[in-house]
Amino acid sequence: LKKLIIIGIGAGNPEYMTIQAIKAMNKADVFFIPDKGSEKAALRKVRIDICERFMEHNDYRVVGFDVPSRPRKTSNYPQTVSLWHDKIRETYKALIETELLSGQCGAFLVWGDPGLYDSTLRIIDVLRTTDPTFDYDVIPGITSVQALTAQHRIAMSAIGEPLLITPARKLDTSRLAPPQSVAVMLESGETLEALPLHDDMWIYWGAYLGTEHEILMQGQVKDVLENIKELRKKSREKHGWIMDVYLLRRHPSA
Ligand SMILES: C[S@@+](CC[C@H](N)C(=O)[O-])C[C@H]1O[C@@H](n2cnc3c(N)ncnc32)[C@H](O)[C@@H]1O
Repeated sequence: LKKLIIIGIGAGNPEYMTIQAIKAMNKADVFFIPDKGSEKAALRKVRIDICERFMEHNDYRVVGFDVPSRPRKTSNYPQTVSLWHDKIRETYKALIETELLSGQCGAFLVWGDPGLYDSTLRIIDVLRTTDPTFDYDVIPGITSVQALTAQHRIAMSAIGEPLLITPARKLDTSRLAPPQSVAVMLESGETLEALPLHDDMWIYWGAYLGTEHEILMQGQVKDVLENIKELRKKSREKHGWIMDVYLLRRHPSA
């Protein structure tokens, strides 16, 4: 049997790697690392740095592969994503067939935690139903939401309250009752543009968390939103890509 390990590497800082993740890495013969694009190049560099820093031997290979680009919002988004996943699955299938021998172990180094807004687990799970030549394990990682709240030195949830995590395109602030919180990921810019400026709404924003370009900003939405939008625009122009996440919280006492 071939073995795959889907390893959460944390969202940006190599020191987010857990001991479990480092031990799992050291079992790998091959690392499958996505290529292409300025964003991918930066994320690829973090993955390569992680290999160089944490591998205790040199007896491993790095195999790059092209990931088909994420589709934009369409009228039938689930179907578009499903077709996209089919293409990625074909890529993974070919990697397992051509790059792994029986008894060998391949690793995917997944940004943050593999279970949070990442398709790897779903794609591998479907592939496993038709390809019995491999088995796989999953190692959790520190998510960007955890990195964000730690950097802002805030609790993720208010006492006894739920915490919702949502992609920006599904954010509905009208359902956020004080003192609840919502963590917003996968921002395209459009949701920030339309954010309501309630007096009691606070934002804890972070971009490029854990990396040398990390930016943090927090405050009442009405006071800081324009600054965040400006910073976001400038940073995106400077680096060619941006990854940001934010927590919105309605403070009852504000
Ligand atoms: C495809 S999701 C992957 C999430 C990842 N699996 C995790 O556990 O955080 C990508 C989104 O995660 C957030 N993200 C990931 N890493 C980040 C970082 N270092 N700084 C800010 N946001 C980040 C952004 O919202 C980005 O759009």
